[in-house]
Amino acid sequence: MFGTVTIALFSILFTIWILRRRKHFSSFLKLGIPGPKPNLLFGNMWEMYWKGPLPCLQDWIDQYGNVFIYFFGLRPVLVVMDLDLLKQIQIKDFMDFVDRPGLFELDPPREPGEPINLILIFLRGTHWKRVRGVLTPSFTTLKLKTMAQTMDETIDDFIRNVDEYSRKENCLDVYKLFQAMSMDVIIKCALGVDAHVQKNPMEHELLNHADVILSTSIQSLPFLIHMSFPAFGWLMKIIRTLEFKFQNKGSDPILDLVEVCRQVMKSRAADPGVCSNIYFSTNFVTPTYTNKTLKTSFDIVAYYATTSSALGYTTHLLVQHPEVQEKIRQEVDELVENEGENLDYVSVHKLRYLDQVFSESLRVYPPVYLFVNREANTDITYGSIQIPKGMAVQVPVYHLHHNPTIWSDPEKFDPERFSPDNHNRSPLAWQPFGYGPRNCIGMRFAQLEAKMALARMVQKYFLRPCEKTEKKLTIRTGSAIINPANGIFVKFVRRNSLK
Ligand code: HEM
Repeated sequence: MFGTVTIALFSILFTIWILRRRKHFSSFLKLGIPGPKPNLLFGNMWEMYWKGPLPCLQDWIDQYGNVFIYFFGLRPVLVVMDLDLLKQIQIKDFMDFVDRPGLFELDPPREPGEPINLILIFLRGTHWKRVRGVLTPSFTTLKLKTMAQTMDETIDDFIRNVDEYSRKENCLDVYKLFQAMSMDVIIKCALGVDAHVQKNPMEHELLNHADVILSTSIQSLPFLIHMSFPAFGWLMKIIRTLEFKFQNKGSDPILDLVEVCRQVMKSRAADPGVCSNIYFSTNFVTPTYTNKTLKTSFDIVAYYATTSSALGYTTHLLVQHPEVQEKIRQEVDELVENEGENLDYVSVHKLRYLDQVFSESLRVYPPVYLFVNREANTDITYGSIQIPKGMAVQVPVYHLHHNPTIWSDPEKFDPERFSPDNHNRSPLAWQPFGYGPRNCIGMRFAQLEAKMALARMVQKYFLRPCEKTEKKLTIRTGSAIINPANGIFVKFVRRNSLK
């Protein structure tokens, strides 16, 4: 008797669950927007899990076109690659799409005040507007000019490392050196201290912890289950923490990273003199360390990954295209001859061809491939497309950059696309830093750092392929960032050794 009642109760609950789930999906399918059929358990995440996000999105684009809907677990996502519609969403109606939907967070977006919401990336509404306003002055031309000096000193250490390691290794993984350099730059500029990551670039603990955190992929079982069954979020968080610990040799990488930041803050509190070197606004750094500060500093540390990936990709392309490499070298040589030895903020901006090369590299390999997302904060209609309040809108940046109707022969690396004569396409077609008022606040900072490092590198070395150099680069797709999976192997030949 008891067993029968239990089975009946369970069947009723299960039927209610199925009906509610079906109703959830069909309420969005009724909008009449094309897209892959969702599966009751995982939405369309199952297909993405097996195929990988880049091939899966490409298949959907091929089948459903420039505007379609898919389900990221339970969350409906409107993918938009139509440039006119993007202009409407990212610029004209920005106030209706201020927020990010937080698709990759195990914790959904919360109200202001909770720790994660102190990070600009996750802030919402007026809270975001206020903090963005406070942080924007951190990246003025004047501030960047000062930061260029710090970057230049840090790049000195990078060049020293290339020198030292390339003497020992004929085929050097320069991506590791870029990661160490970018980490030092961001910590120096944002926290005002030198973490000396470049002293141990191959296995510094900070890099190891950050790498474990940043390697989280959409193709992970806890992520798939969490997105599809939000009620089990607590369980998935435990599993993910254990998974992190396992990858990080027994300790939690987030806590380890926070501990490193805590030490940095402590040394600053003990010696206020070091704070004189801080360029970012006080929201990024405060003299005492609180949970807020720790969370924020952890966030800053994460930005090193995008810049170092961009540097890695550009170096790969320069190795594959020696004629482009040579053209940059000549441009840098000429500049140094005319303007003196040191590259600074002003002189780097005169390197027009280098700028074209870096822009084209970010087109071919946009490091942040799936993070330019917005959430509708009201019901809104564009022609036949209805976007209900709460729906996520996603810009498929990688696919936008490889769309043959926008970019002819998109797989070809061609810096001439960005020459002054070729500026007749929509600015929304190129979005490595996103677009509109919610774009990347660190864009000019990252461009300055990357261009300074690239100019100094080709000025000093010829970059040649070696036995471990991949002709076609293998990419690792994290949840929002893509990076070189097997490193960037280069043979560095000192220019003066050939004279
Ligand atoms: C090559 C390097 C970088 C790339 C490709 C990159 C890319 C991006 C992208 C695509 C977004 C989302 C933009 C959007 O939704 O429209 C973003 C946001 C952001 N980035 Fe970057 N980024 C880079 C470096 C940096 C650096 C070095 C910093 C800090 C100094 C930084 C700080 C931020 C912040 C705070 C946001 C959130 C802005 C907001 O929500 O208002 N980024 N970045």
